[in-house]
This record gives sequence, C-alpha cells and structure tokens, in this order.
Amino acid sequence: MTFEAMWADLLPVGRSAATGGYHRFAWTAPELECRAWFEAEAAGRGLALEPDANGNLFAWWYPADGRRDGAVLTGSHLDSVPGGGAFDGPLGVVTAFAALDALRERGFAPRRPLVVAAFAEEEGARFGVACLGSRLLTGAITPERARALRDGDGATFADVIAEHGLDPAAIGPDEALLGRLAYGVELHVEQGRALVGPVGVASSIIPHGRWRFGFTGQGDHAGTTALRDRRDPMLPFAAMVLAARQAAERNGTLATVGKVAVDPGGVNAIAASVTAWLDGRGPVDDAVRRTVTEIERAARLAAVGHDVKVDVAEESYTPLLDFPHALRDHLRALLGDVPLLPTGAGHDAGILAARIPTAMLYVRNPTGISHAPSEHADIPDCLAGVTALAQVLEDLLEHP
Ligand code: GLV
Ligand code: MN
Ligand code: MN
Repeated sequence: MTFEAMWADLLPVGRSAATGGYHRFAWTAPELECRAWFEAEAAGRGLALEPDANGNLFAWWYPADGRRDGAVLTGSHLDSVPGGGAFDGPLGVVTAFAALDALRERGFAPRRPLVVAAFAEEEGARFGVACLGSRLLTGAITPERARALRDGDGATFADVIAEHGLDPAAIGPDEALLGRLAYGVELHVEQGRALVGPVGVASSIIPHGRWRFGFTGQGDHAGTTALRDRRDPMLPFAAMVLAARQAAERNGTLATVGKVAVDPGGVNAIAASVTAWLDGRGPVDDAVRRTVTEIERAARLAAVGHDVKVDVAEESYTPLLDFPHALRDHLRALLGDVPLLPTGAGHDAGILAARIPTAMLYVRNPTGISHAPSEHADIPDCLAGVTALAQVLEDLLEHP
C-alpha cells in the first residue's frame, strides 16, 4: 500500500461535505473508522497490534531475533479538532507506515523493534485535555482526573472508554511499555509558514494551556427586562474576549477564545450562563501566566458591574519543551542541515519527550493554515517526509 493509496483511504473519513473540515473526535464513529484503518494497515503488514490500556494504538515490527525492548516509536494521532484539516495527525501515522514499507523494500533488517503509534485524543476536542493518551501513558495526568473528564454531552472519559472495551480502572502510566522505548519520532505537518524547504526538525514547543471561564448571571426575557435589571453574563464575557487580545499584545503572547457555550442560547432570552475557553501560549511561562492573570482580572472587573459570577479553572498547562539537543542536532545533520524551527502547537512528542529522547520532523505547509479545512501539504513534500522519516528510523534502528 503506497503513501498515496493509504492517504486516499483516510481522506473521506469524517470529512464534512459542506465545509471539507474533519470531525474525528475520540471514540466517535469517524475516529473509530480511522482506528479500524490503522488495525487493518498493521495486520496487512504482519505487525503485532498491541494497544495499551489508555486507548493508544501500537503496531510493532519485531527484529528477527525477537528483541522486544530498545524500540524506536514513530507516529502521531488520528483524531481532529472540530472542522480540522486532513494532515494534522494522520500525516504522521501514514508516513510512519510508508517509511516502514520503504525500509522493508530495501531489505533493511532492524536490530531494534519499530513501533507505529496512533495516540488517543491528541487534540482534546472531546474531553478537553490535549494529548490525553500520551499524558496517561507517561503519567502527565492522573488516572483519577482523566476518568472524570466529561465530553460536551456530559459523558465521562471512564464511561466512554468502557463502552469501547477498555477498563477505566486500568488506565494510567505504563512503565513496562515506556521501559521498552528508546527513541520517539513524530512527523507532523508544519502549522505555520516558517518552513521553507520540504522537511524540517523541531527545536521546541512553546508553553501553552487552556482555561475555562464560567460566567453566571440570570436568564430572563429580552423584551421585558430593563437594562438596569439585567445580570447578563454575555457582557463580561465580551469584555474578557477583548481583554484577551489586549493582554496578548502587551505580553508578546497568544490568547484565543475559539469555543463558547451559551446557556440556554435563545435569541430572545438573556443568557443564564456563558462558558468560554481560553487558549493561552507564549515564548516563556511567565509571559503566559501574566497574560492569563490579566485576562482573569479584566473578566472579574467587568462582571462586578453586571452582578455576574465568574469561575476560572485551569484545564491543562504544558511548560516550555526543548527537544533534546543531541538527538535533534544529529537528525538535522543526517538530513542535510534542514531547517530547525519551534512550534506553537502541542504534540504527543512533547509529552513523550519527558520520558524518552524524542524528536519531531515537519513537512512544509504552503498555506501555513492549520486546524482548518485549508490545511495542506503537497504530495511531493509528503513523500520527501517519508524519505526523511525512513532515513531517521534506519539510523536510530541501527544504533547498537
Ligand atoms: C494541538 O494541535 C494544539 O496545539 O492545540
Ligand atoms: Mn492539532
Ligand atoms: Mn497534531
């Protein structure tokens, strides 16, 4: 199965006919179809499918001598943000299988196992915490907290995974599995326009986090309630959105409110409550923290004048991640001094890097757009990614 054939198989799964955007949320029908695709690709190659207790999929190619440790892991994720692009995640999984095929075609016999991975709920689009599968695997989130996470319909992570054959009591760090991994490499579509050549190597992931702002007022009639009598949560919410932009500009950071839930959401009703999610990122931890503090202060100040209650909860925070220099510099040199670049996006590789030497490769994105339908990489660049990944894997698998 060539890269193009695998890509064509995945392309229609979960794509909206109206927008061309992808809706592949963890353990929903389209994502289950992607998982089935992964299992079929693994089986077709005679790989050993060994999913873990956290919902992550792993397909192992063992060396002839049966060695089971010192493995090189490569892959990414198959879930998407709401209305996402085709490449964020799947490109890293499809190139992983294609690179494995390239190694086999040239008769390469690995000394170490190669494991292709698809991590669960990387985007956090369903349960709110990004990289949930890799966080559970590495112990970056407690099983108790993960079990209690809820999706938009109120279903808990524990209940959803139980429905799909996983044991909620068994989730959590897997030291036995981590102990078998020597290196990790995630290939990903570049999510900005910074990459000029077809392939690059990651330097770092900037600090990023998510905060939930709840504004509670009093639901009431839009036509019969005088302005002075209103407790409208929409007003401090609006102030918070504007404050986010201003605080980001002041601190040299990024602050985004891309998701909001209004209850009950009637045109002719003052809202009873508004919940807004703030995504905050920046070059250093202090600047991100300062940005969020300033936004929270502005929200609380605006709420006082409208007699609205404000609750702020941190849903996740990931500090600056500098990929290990020895590995990234080695891979860069191996690939012919390709560009080295930081990213503002979170990745499973960043979570994995806390436990094993991990690197990332990027494939050029000519539009620079990501988390949207026009996210793109040209096929020749994707194939250059396969070649680069195969070269990297061969090198790491050869390591004594
Ligand atoms: C994942 O893509 C993120 O950066 O939120
Ligand atoms: Mn993403
Ligand atoms: Mn991704």
